[in-house]
This record gives sequence, structure tokens and C-alpha cells, in this order.
Amino acid sequence: MRPSVVHGTILAVCCAIFGAQVAFANEDNGPERVVIQSQIDTEKVAKPAYLPHQKHQWLECDGCHHGKGANRKMIDYVAGQKIEKCETCHNRKTGMPERIATLKRASHMLCMECHLQQDKDLARCGVCHTKK
Ligand code: HEC
Ligand code: HEC
Ligand code: HEC
Ligand code: HEC
Repeated sequence: MRPSVVHGTILAVCCAIFGAQVAFANEDNGPERVVIQSQIDTEKVAKPAYLPHQKHQWLECDGCHHGKGANRKMIDYVAGQKIEKCETCHNRKTGMPERIATLKRASHMLCMECHLQQDKDLARCGVCHTKK
């Protein structure tokens, strides 16, 4: 009996480590960069914004990503959840509060508030609206 007990223990430890690695991989799978561009509430002149995504991953995923629950309430990000485009929820048809009613507004609220706190130069239009 003894060897199989030991074997079971090793297996359990291995699974725990493997599980941790899978969780870590999920936490780490953000894209290197994304270009954010409105498709629904489009402006006359499109102004895509550039986000160096991995450079922002010192922030937890839930610092930017979240979901929508009942009563249009925000629900916290859960590791490994499906990531939807912000505009899926933040657009004129979904009746969000005015300050976050469009992709532009929601993005400016999220991105600009932090950039302004960090350094005024980071809030210049050309920082995010660049051709990079
Ligand atoms: C910290 C990043 C950031 C800064 C700084 C920033 N923006 Fe944006 N902006 C975004 C993001 C993200 C979007 C969403 C992209 C979109 O709407 O297509 C956006 C959207 C927009 C849109 C809508 C464009 C479209 O195609 O729908 C306009 C117009 C705009 N910004 C103007 C400005 C102006 C003017 C400034 C400077 C005063 C500025 N932004 C500064 C991130 C930024
Ligand atoms: C600074 C804010 C921010 C942080 C922090 C952040 N993300 Fe994102 N992420 C975004 C934005 C903005 C988009 C683009 C959404 C859009 O286009 O509407 C995005 C897109 C994504 C996408 C979809 C990429 C695609 O090509 O469709 C994945 C997957 C993703 N993020 C995973 C993560 C994970 C995992 C973490 C945590 C490790 C994380 N993100 C942290 C802001 C962030
Ligand atoms: C699945 C739907 C959904 C997606 C996708 C989504 N949001 Fe939201 N978001 C919500 C809901 C719901 C709220 C809460 C609205 C309220 O307070 O009435 C919210 C609130 C916010 C707020 C306000 C937070 C505050 O402190 O008041 C910001 C800013 C925001 N979202 C930005 C984003 C950005 C940027 C993205 C893409 C990275 C995104 N959201 C993706 C549903 C979504
Ligand atoms: C919680 C804080 C925070 C949030 C939220 C945030 N940023 Fe930033 N961002 C920073 C800091 C700090 C820097 C400067 C350090 C660096 O370059 O990594 C930065 C730098 C940048 C740069 C310049 C990077 C370069 O290589 O020159 C871009 C572009 C940018 N952010 C876009 C965005 C966009 C778009 C969003 C919203 C989707 C966003 N950021 C949200 C903190 C934030």
C-alpha cells in the first residue's frame, strides 16, 4: 500500500503545481499591444488609440476588465474569463450612464484618469492617438 500512497501524494503535488501554472498562464496571456477602435458609435474622423497592453500588466487584469451582471451592474473580472470588447457594453444602445456611455467616454475615463495622476505629459492626445 505504501508506495501507492506516496505516489498519490506526488501526483497531488504535481497537480497542484500544474494547476498553478495554468492559472499563471491565464493571468499572463494579454496581447502585447492592442489598437482600440470604435465600430458602433463612430466619429466622422476615426481616431484609433494604441495601448501597449503588456506594458500595463503591472496592473491586475481587473484594473481594466470587468463584466456585466444583472441590473446592468458591473461584475469583477474573474481570472480566465472571456474578454469582450469594451464597446460591446459601452455603446449608445445599452443605456449606460452618460459619463461611460460610449467607447470614447469609457476609455477616456479609465485611461486618462490614471495618466493624469501619473504625469500630465501622459495625458497629451498624441500619447494614445498615435500611428504606432
Ligand atoms: C490615455 C490614452 C488617451 C489619451 C491621452 C487620449 N485619448 Fe482619446 N481615446 C482613447 C481611447 C482608448 C479611445 C477609444 C477609441 C475609439 O473610440 O475608437 C479614444 C477615443 C477618442 C475619440 C473617438 C474616436 C473614434 O474613432 O471613435 C476622440 C475624438 C478622442 N479620443 C479624442 C482625444 C483628444 C482630443 C485627446 C487629447 C485631449 C485624447 N483623445 C486623448 C484614449 C486616449
Ligand atoms: C490598462 C488596462 C488593461 C489591463 C491592466 C489589462 N487589459 Fe486586457 N485589454 C485592455 C483593452 C483596452 C483591450 C482592448 C479592448 C477593446 O478593443 O475593446 C484589451 C484586450 C484584451 C484581450 C483581447 C485581445 C484581442 O485581440 O481581442 C485579452 C485576451 C486581454 N485584454 C487580456 C488581459 C489579461 C489576461 C489581463 C491581465 C493580465 C489584462 N488584459 C489586463 C485593457 C487592459
Ligand atoms: C460585459 C460588459 C462590459 C464590458 C465588456 C466592459 N464594461 Fe465597463 N462597465 C460595465 C458596467 C455594467 C459598468 C457599470 C455601469 C454603472 O456603473 O452603471 C461599467 C463601468 C465602467 C467604468 C466606470 C467605472 C467607475 O468607476 O465608475 C469604466 C471607466 C469602464 N466601465 C470602462 C471599460 C473599459 C475601458 C472596458 C474595456 C477594457 C470595459 N469597460 C468593458 C460593463 C462592461
Ligand atoms: C492605472 C494606470 C493606467 C491606466 C488605467 C492606463 N495607463 Fe497607460 N500608462 C500608465 C503609465 C504609468 C505609463 C508610463 C509608463 C510606461 O510607459 O509603461 C503609461 C503609458 C502609456 C502609453 C505610452 C507607452 C509608450 O510606450 O510610450 C500609452 C500609449 C498608454 N499608456 C495607453 C493607455 C491606454 C489606451 C489606456 C486605456 C485603455 C491606458 N494607457 C490606461 C498608466 C496607466
